[in-house]
Amino acid sequence: MRLFVAIDLPDPIKDHLLSLKADIPTARWSNRHQMHLTLFFIGETERIAEIKAALAAVEAPSFELSLSGVGRFPPSDRQPPRVLWAGVDVSPALAALHRQITNALTALGFAADERPFTPHITLARLKASRPLPAAGAFLNEQRGLQVGPVPVTEFVLFSSKLSPQGARYTREAVYALNQA
Ligand code: 2AM
Repeated sequence: MRLFVAIDLPDPIKDHLLSLKADIPTARWSNRHQMHLTLFFIGETERIAEIKAALAAVEAPSFELSLSGVGRFPPSDRQPPRVLWAGVDVSPALAALHRQITNALTALGFAADERPFTPHITLARLKASRPLPAAGAFLNEQRGLQVGPVPVTEFVLFSSKLSPQGARYTREAVYALNQA
């Protein structure tokens, strides 16, 4: 199974992000079921019971999440854009949850992303072979994006099935955060 840990988003936020969809060549826009904030990408594994036990032991408080602005991967606009995303404010509580989940899973031997944590919601994936003016225009138009704050009361272990129509994500387990 291909697994990852993420925060799912409330429907009103997904509605808002879905409404940003623009006409950009090669862009495949995320649908409602594909929108989440990835905290740790585990990858292909069959060690599901161990992973569930490690995640169940994570103790972290619930918190509020806000989205601000948009961005792209790779960051340089001299390279073709691969991903357009909505940015997530890194609060101490989000950083702490990310750290705890990372500690729990690296203790099992899963490799953490070596890049710094750049919390984001993927809006679109692109297959352009050169820089796209329409992507630049989108990023400029949406640079003032502000959504939330919304409460985060749980995190989710998702499985991912890849298909030509795009990835399909299934909630395998849900973990409640501690209420204040
Ligand atoms: P994303 O967070 O940029 O959208 C399932 O594939 C989820 O895990 C996606 O949301 C994906 O990208 C994220 N992810 C993070 N690292 C990944 C990796 N090395 N391979 C595939 N997906 C990864």
